[in-house]
Amino acid sequence: MKALVFHGPGKRSWEDVPDPRITDPTDAIVRVDAVTICGTDLHILGGDVPEVTDGRILGHEAVGTVVEVGPSVQNLAPGDRVLVSCITSCGRCRFCREGRYGQCLGGGGWILGHLVDGTQAELVRVPFADNSTHRVPEGVSDEQMLMLADILPTSYEVGVLNGCVRPADVVVIVGAGPIGLAAILATRLLSPSHVVAVDLADSRLEAARELGADLALNPGRDDVAAVVRDLTDGLGADVTMEAVGVPATFEQAVELVRPGGHVANIGVHGAPATLHLESIWIKDLTITTGLVDTHSTPTLIGLVRSGKLDTSPMITHRFTLDEFEEAYDVFGRAAETGALKVLLTAKPGD
Ligand SMILES: NC(=O)c1ccc[n+]([C@@H]2O[C@H](COP(=O)([O-])OP(=O)(O)OC[C@H]3O[C@@H](n4cnc5c(N)ncnc54)[C@H](O)[C@@H]3O)[C@@H](O)[C@H]2O)c1
Ligand SMILES: [Zn+2]
Ligand SMILES: [Zn+2]
Repeated sequence: MKALVFHGPGKRSWEDVPDPRITDPTDAIVRVDAVTICGTDLHILGGDVPEVTDGRILGHEAVGTVVEVGPSVQNLAPGDRVLVSCITSCGRCRFCREGRYGQCLGGGGWILGHLVDGTQAELVRVPFADNSTHRVPEGVSDEQMLMLADILPTSYEVGVLNGCVRPADVVVIVGAGPIGLAAILATRLLSPSHVVAVDLADSRLEAARELGADLALNPGRDDVAAVVRDLTDGLGADVTMEAVGVPATFEQAVELVRPGGHVANIGVHGAPATLHLESIWIKDLTITTGLVDTHSTPTLIGLVRSGKLDTSPMITHRFTLDEFEEAYDVFGRAAETGALKVLLTAKPGD
């Protein structure tokens, strides 16, 4: 088969590799029908994730068709259409029993395209297949479903649920990349009074408006703190979400929240940020961090199926699998190309 293979920082290619085989009785082999690229894949290519070694097939998001199952797989059969989630779950360890699949101790968690070969390929081996896939309901398209592999559960769980968003809240989302934009969609499910998106890139702010942000602010031009004060009788936002992953935006998210409010950090940070306890100790803040668990995927599937959540505006560019290298190029130059999520599909008949 063909796959997108990582060969060390800056090096990747769409090349011939051996087909994956069932190695554990709980595995399934899935033919990839639709797949996308995540910002995390760009971090891997940038050399930021040293556990990913030369020869690894990248990718942790896909929708596909089961072609083979191991002898212990009970809920899947060849021909089933499934979502392959970014998080794999052994289903048996202490954390899986709590629905904290991201912290799985039994060999799951974020492993696809990280510690084992991933989904950016014609075929993928899915470990713990019963617990790590979700059936695609009738009437839901591959591309709608694909957005539930990573960005929607991340923004809903780590942003909206951890941030305890409630109806009528003023919610500020700092960072309007795919995660921040998905957080706008997820926040709107709870009837906020205002969703305020903050980003330095005007193309991202435009996308934020299209996805339902009431205000889209550029800190290079706008006084974000003053706008938020005006919206909230001077108090600050009920909930702020950090969806960038740099110290300045975490510190901004803490500054913009009201006493008693919630700061939900979603961004992956590579450097220490300052927590100004000397000014916030008195503010009754709740600050949360988290890795996505994907425990909310069934809820999100229900919302897509019933038409309450439309994920399709997240997809800006479409390719076939054999155009993977071009897709990486377009996604990697998002500031110029305006890419949010790129969709790659198998050619009909392949
Ligand atoms: N916690 C989790 O489980 C989880 C899962 C997936 C991704 N993430 C993280 O979420 C973060 C966002 O992911 P993404 O794919 O949307 O990333 P992205 O890089 O595509 O988007 C980040 C956005 O932040 C904007 N930005 C940069 N500096 C800014 C600043 N100072 N002020 C305002 N905006 C600024 C950029 O213009 C960009 O639009 C990343 O750190 C990613 O690693 C976390
Ligand atoms: Zn991802
Ligand atoms: Zn587990």
